[in-house]
Amino acid sequence: MLTIGICGDHAGFPCKARLIPWLESKGFKVVDFGTDSEVSMDYADVAHPLALAVEQGQVDCGIALCGTGNGMAMTLNKHQGIRAGLAWNSEIGRLVKAHNNANILVLPARFISYRMAQNIVRTWLETPFEGGRHLRRIGKIPCA
Ligand code: RB5
Repeated sequence: MLTIGICGDHAGFPCKARLIPWLESKGFKVVDFGTDSEVSMDYADVAHPLALAVEQGQVDCGIALCGTGNGMAMTLNKHQGIRAGLAWNSEIGRLVKAHNNANILVLPARFISYRMAQNIVRTWLETPFEGGRHLRRIGKIPCA
């Protein structure tokens, strides 16, 4: 079973706090990189540790949440080994794995319901990467 790293800023905390026990109930091991409350904090302080854990193989993949998802995505994608993809509905959750093989799923916590977050996470986890032309395309993402 996969080990999933998860992080969120203060805006992402309430959804993250509900996703963790739900994922564990499905049999996943979850490593929580914080934050641990709704007290205002800076998303990069939890995004970089999650990105490093994914790059170094300490976790298999990651989920990151902030208000819009953009701060997390911008920070995570500074790491060469990370493909962090923002998804706000289940179809984008499917495509971000099938076409982009996102190794971190980013959720805009202030713009989706918890139920929607669950559906996006479930879809992303269950969808396989299609490979083929998409493998060629993601191979061109890293900077030289
Ligand atoms: C926090 O107010 C908010 O700026 C943050 O959660 C995120 O949306 C940034 O991209």
